[in-house]
Amino acid sequence: MACPVNNTVELNPTLLPLEWLLGTWECDEPGEGSFPTIKPFRYTETLHFSHVGQPVINFMFNAFHAESKKPMHRECGFVRMQPGTNRVAFIIAQNSGLVEIEEGELTGQQLSLQSQQLARTSFAKEPYVKQICRVFQLRPDGKLEQTVSMATDNQPLIQHLRITYRQS
Ligand code: HEM
Repeated sequence: MACPVNNTVELNPTLLPLEWLLGTWECDEPGEGSFPTIKPFRYTETLHFSHVGQPVINFMFNAFHAESKKPMHRECGFVRMQPGTNRVAFIIAQNSGLVEIEEGELTGQQLSLQSQQLARTSFAKEPYVKQICRVFQLRPDGKLEQTVSMATDNQPLIQHLRITYRQS
């Protein structure tokens, strides 16, 4: 896939196993959010994955309220792959004040990630996130699915988000 900044730049060969992730993904129907302590909710989300020829993917995730369309959760960051292996790292900043490093493995077209490092602003709202597990999977029908589970300081690991996207 061509680079949106300079479409003459070739994808760095380190990233070839993740080429399927590049581009813009729009949710095909609202995603489902839940957690034992909150009211279930629906949201829409757009994902952008791009590159500038470095061995790094740049990403932005923007979520919106399904009905009011108001901006909600946002994340941005970088994806790195360890050359010659299937190890992948996501370096993420969230608008909530949380920053995290997730690491995991690419198996076929499935990425399974677990938080390795979590940090937050000194004035972040409780409850604090203790652990995040995230899976991206490109399904045989060409849709991308993302699920996010989290543990907080008062809830064990359980699903918070599930959503599917189509390439736009
Ligand atoms: C609530 C974390 C992504 C929407 C929460 C809570 C936490 C959290 C810790 C509070 C739970 C509680 O009160 O017990 C995260 C993390 C995310 C993420 C770590 C990404 C890895 C999203 C996304 C949306 C979203 C993409 C989509 C709009 C909400 C809503 C609530 C909530 C509506 C309930 C109301 C509120 O507390 O603001 N989330 N969230 N979250 N989250 Fe997320």
